[in-house]
Amino acid sequence: MIPQSFIDDLLSRVDVVDIVESHIALKRSGSNLSARCPFHNEKTPSFTVSQSKQFYHCFGCGAHGTAISFLMEYLGMGFIDAVKELAVRAGITVPEIEAPKDKPPGAEENLVGVISQAAHFYKQCLKESERAIDYLKGRGLSGEIAARYGLGYARDDWQGLEAEFGEYGKSKALVSAGLVVEGKQGRRYDRFRDRVMFPIQNQRGNIIGFGGRVIDAGEPKYMNSPETPLFEKGRELYGLVQARAGIRRSGTIVVVEGYMDVVALAQCGVDYAVATLGTATTPWQVQKLLKQCDRAVFCFDGDAAGRRAAWRALENSLSQLADGKQIGFLFLPEGDDPDSYVRRDGKEAFERLLTQAQPLSEFLFQEIAARVDMRSAEGKAKFLQDAKPLLAAVKAPMLSLVLRKRVAELGGVSQSELYDRYDIQPPVRRQVAARKVAERPSVLRHLGEMLLVSPALARQIDIGRFKEFCDIAAADYAAAEIEFVLQLLEIGVDNPNVQAVVERFRGSPHEPLVGRFQAAGLLAWEGNGFDEEALEADFLAAWQSIEQRLSKARIDELLDKSRQGELSDEDKALYRQLVSRSIDNHALPG
Ligand code: UTP
Ligand code: MN
Repeated sequence: MIPQSFIDDLLSRVDVVDIVESHIALKRSGSNLSARCPFHNEKTPSFTVSQSKQFYHCFGCGAHGTAISFLMEYLGMGFIDAVKELAVRAGITVPEIEAPKDKPPGAEENLVGVISQAAHFYKQCLKESERAIDYLKGRGLSGEIAARYGLGYARDDWQGLEAEFGEYGKSKALVSAGLVVEGKQGRRYDRFRDRVMFPIQNQRGNIIGFGGRVIDAGEPKYMNSPETPLFEKGRELYGLVQARAGIRRSGTIVVVEGYMDVVALAQCGVDYAVATLGTATTPWQVQKLLKQCDRAVFCFDGDAAGRRAAWRALENSLSQLADGKQIGFLFLPEGDDPDSYVRRDGKEAFERLLTQAQPLSEFLFQEIAARVDMRSAEGKAKFLQDAKPLLAAVKAPMLSLVLRKRVAELGGVSQSELYDRYDIQPPVRRQVAARKVAERPSVLRHLGEMLLVSPALARQIDIGRFKEFCDIAAADYAAAEIEFVLQLLEIGVDNPNVQAVVERFRGSPHEPLVGRFQAAGLLAWEGNGFDEEALEADFLAAWQSIEQRLSKARIDELLDKSRQGELSDEDKALYRQLVSRSIDNHALPG
């Protein structure tokens, strides 16, 4: 367990803006920063980060939290990892989750330093090696691209790193970073020798490992850093940091298999490609991919191995699919990889192929249909059976619905028969529930938010009128929200201090609403340097719309009465008065 006091201390040392900004670009608006929300799909920015309050909040989907929760949500980290990550940034040590006793404390922190020092050294060595430079030139790379990807060279020397690391013979970090191998008699030697070095960066831009390619022929062709506490192959995407801007610009992320493919694509102007690290694509990687943008295209070789790899990627993508996200599969002509293709045919040709990528759903059905004879009843039955576990993995409500529809069609059964056999509920309801959260804040909520910024606003209005509003609007709002705003008004009349108002709700059933409303209110209002006048104007405008709702209700009542011929002169006068104030232009009856 990590003590709460440590978490508090930690949060006071990091800036949520820095943390968020190292992953997504923020635009300043007033004292807040905003962006398109990384947690849901949207066209206009409703994701806001408050520097003064140290939290982020999305008005669209309700995502909300601190630097810790951001790392957990955005990078999929566990709580402990997120805390560790922040502690490293803050330069403090996490109590009770230190490295095991046989390692010196802070060993993990050293790894980053050691690896980046090695990367720097390899880069220097590249400058001095004509052989390595010629090799890279021969593969069509410019110095600029080599620098962009931090390419280096590990000399043909068993203890090459000794020139850089004085503590070569003793350093534990060199070994645990995977740079140095310790032999049986304790003799140490460099893992990477006479190889072109591709540093692998994590999302935060730290180098966490290397891939090294032999120059010319040799085995193994690529050697990779072993997995370390920093480096887990299934969780990283090579080239992501360099591709960020390109991904944002193109709205697409291309996933290829090799380091060289990424670099060669960038060389030819396709600067939005990343690679998996010599392993099958994991769900974790897919999750990361889909967080970058709405469209990911897997690009595989056109051979049998490529199709197998694509199928693995498909299987591991299903659980990560979300409505509004697209995954495509591109199979290159046999014998090509992205590197050879783009160098021969160029950027335009490659991008044309990208637009023709096969949608995931199509690839899915094509593959399972290809295993059976779809003309026979037996084949169709097998098709339906094979599709079942795959469809079950899809959580995206709309996509899941459409896929099932298509499976039913292809299998020659009706949808309801399919639902029966698959033992599933049509997934429509969940979508409706999800939409509710994204609704624009209601006028009621708006009032509540403002009252939690400046409770004394309550003095501006007639609480009696608000109670009338509660009666007529009861059907439109959650009872708890109505009750909460009413209490805010009642408390606010005597209590201009926000913290005092907040305290009054401690332990009350409305406590959760306090947090939600306050977050939204502060973000909306502290933004403009907290302009009291503007706040008040907005509050009165919101109140005005409540008054209008009241008038409209009275008008409707009077109209009803008049249809029954019961309108007195007094009623008629009231009616005229209401109508003249109302935005709705009702014609006078009779
Ligand atoms: P490929 O064998 O397809 O190599 O490996 P490539 O990308 O075309 O490389 P070049 O063009 O010959 O230089 C694709 C990826 O598989 C992993 C590496 O991550 C590589 O980028 N791999 C391959 C290894 O880890 N070890 C190997 O021995 C080979
Ligand atoms: Mn290749």
